[in-house]
Amino acid sequence: MSMVIITINGKEFSAKTGEMVVDVARKNGIYIPTLCNMEGVIPQGSCRICTCLIDGRTMAACTTPVSHRMNVETNNAELEKIRTTIVELLFAEGNHYCPTCERSGNCDLQALAYRFNVLVSQFKQIFPTRNVDAKNPKILIDHNRCIQCKRCIRRMGGSGKPAWFSFKDRGHKVKVNIDHELTADFTDEMAQKAMDTCPVGAILKKEKGFDVPIGRRKYDTEPIGTEIEKEGAKL
Ligand code: FES
Repeated sequence: MSMVIITINGKEFSAKTGEMVVDVARKNGIYIPTLCNMEGVIPQGSCRICTCLIDGRTMAACTTPVSHRMNVETNNAELEKIRTTIVELLFAEGNHYCPTCERSGNCDLQALAYRFNVLVSQFKQIFPTRNVDAKNPKILIDHNRCIQCKRCIRRMGGSGKPAWFSFKDRGHKVKVNIDHELTADFTDEMAQKAMDTCPVGAILKKEKGFDVPIGRRKYDTEPIGTEIEKEGAKL
């Protein structure tokens, strides 16, 4: 695999051809916010929270492969505005009641809202009517919190494996559907994996919750991105 040199925020880094900008940045301790992207899962670039300035154009860092002498800017006032707006839109579009959510403190969307100082959305709250699908014995899907990132669809099944999750309906009615027949014998491990795949609190494992009290969870103790940025400070 050949190597290329790219510049991120004014510093040069070497990267393998085919690597995505977001992964190269992460490896070098530069945090680019993500929601629909997950390490090890084929990227799809749907949420656009990772938008960076790449060779002068705003592009999704998770679906843009590096190229020799590429110039990337990961943060400036314009990018911050784009990301804040996306977070605000996601909050306005769904029903996110963080204080009662099992993922509070472990939720990427909530953590990004804190990072971007989003206290009130500039957009009118839609308050859509959505249901909770609790038919599966091991997990439940709360459609009120789903941000349609498709991480569950891409990671849990697909590419040769049976599709446990899929999209149903179209437009603003689109929602994640779970195949109840295929997932009838879901194990605890599968249920946990599905829950961990979801960046918000839309997929929850049943039977046990609030294991770690709110206030002592991942992002309660360390803001999102800090882990990567700490690594970067050591380099
Ligand atoms: Fe890149 Fe969602 S993380 S588009």
